Formats: sequence, structure tokens, C-alpha cells
Amino acid sequence: MEVKTVKNSQTTITELMIPSYANFGGKIHGGILLSIMDKTAYACASKHAGNYCVTVSIENVEFLQPVEVGDLVSFYASVNYVGKSSLVVGMKVVAENVKMGTARHTNSSYFTMVAKGDDNKTAMVPELVLEEEIEVRRFLEALKRKEFSAAFRDRMQDVKSAFTRKDMDLLSEERCVVGFI
Ligand SMILES: CC(C)(COP(=O)(O)OP(=O)(O)OC[C@H]1O[C@@H](n2cnc3c(N)ncnc32)[C@H](O)[C@@H]1OP(=O)(O)O)[C@@H](O)C(=O)NCCC(=O)NCCS
Repeated sequence: MEVKTVKNSQTTITELMIPSYANFGGKIHGGILLSIMDKTAYACASKHAGNYCVTVSIENVEFLQPVEVGDLVSFYASVNYVGKSSLVVGMKVVAENVKMGTARHTNSSYFTMVAKGDDNKTAMVPELVLEEEIEVRRFLEALKRKEFSAAFRDRMQDVKSAFTRKDMDLLSEERCVVGFI
């Protein structure tokens, strides 16, 4: 089985935030950032996989600080984990104000991508060589995230199946109005 290092596929895309990326409030649209994040994750994942990849899920998308027009934003992507056909790409986004010489870490997200072969079926990805302690930590964290996500999906499925009209009582303290009886 082919093996590849984490460094082999590490990818950085840096892009200037131009005025056409802004929303009505003058800040950069979250969707623009997501699109560049997805492109960077694709470049990183496909380089490791040696195949075309698709995005299955994106975890931890939180934009805690606004990104401004004129910021130089760097998207750092690194393969954190590999399964059989899936990979988790960790993404760190850093926005730089070049005039002030300041940099803000705006968010970190995790993209699960799946490699596909020419037949459009899922394809095995090379094993990951972990050369540094931080790479081992990220791999273990990805394993835990996978376990927590599966448990969360199961819990939500239970919540959906257990719903009865009686649960509407739970809304009494909430800021909503039930418009039917
Ligand atoms: C991703 C996709 C190929 C998975 O198909 P599937 O029939 O579930 O395939 P499998 O069950 O063999 O799973 C393949 C891998 O995906 C992983 N996977 C499937 N669903 C997942 C989910 N919701 N979250 C995380 N990983 C998932 C599996 O764990 C498996 O990983 P492994 O091979 O490393 O063990 C299929 O869902 C797909 O094509 N989705 C559309 C993706 C796409 O087009 N994205 C672009 C945005 S629209």
C-alpha cells in the first residue's frame, strides 16, 4: 500500500478580499470564505488521494471575527486523518491586515472528503505517515471527532423518533409562538 506524509499534501491558498466579496454590511460573505476553504481542502485531499475527491461534511464552521475588504486571507490545509476512502482535512483561516501588520485566526474547520476513482466508486487513499507529535495528536483528535459525530447523529435520530405533540410544552420558555392547535 502506498504511503504519503502529511507534508506532501499541505496546501496554502492566499487570497485578497476584494470589494465584490462583501455583504451589505461591508464585511466578507461567509459563503465566499467557505467556497475558498472547500477549494483548498479539495486541493489538499486530492493531492494525498491521487484521485478526485468529494466533500462529505464540514465541521466547526464558526466565523467568530469578521473579515474585512482589503484583508489578505490565508487558508492552511493539512490532512489530519485517513480512513479507507475518506480523509479529514484540517483548515486554519488567518486574515491579515497588511497595513497594520496584524493577523487574526478567524476559524478552524474540518472537512471530510471521500476519494473517487474514474468509475465514480469510492477509492482507497494512501496511508498517512505521521512524522511529528502534532500530526499524531491531530489524527487522534479526528478519530474522537468521528466517534462524537456518530454519537450525535444517533442521539438526534432518537430525538426525531421520540417527538410527540406533548413536547410542545417544552417551548413555553422559548421565543416562539405555536400557530396551530
Ligand atoms: C461520500 C459518498 C461517496 C459516500 O457514499 P457511501 O455510499 O456512504 O459510501 P461508503 O459507505 O462506502 O462510505 C465511504 C466513506 O465515506 C465515509 N462517510 C460516509 N458518510 C459520511 C458522513 N456523513 N460523515 C463522514 N464520513 C462519511 C465513510 O465512513 C467511508 O469512510 P472510509 O472509506 O474511510 O471508511 C456519497 O455520500 C456521495 O457521493 N455524496 C455526495 C458528495 C458530493 O457530491 N459532495 C459535493 C457537495 S454536493
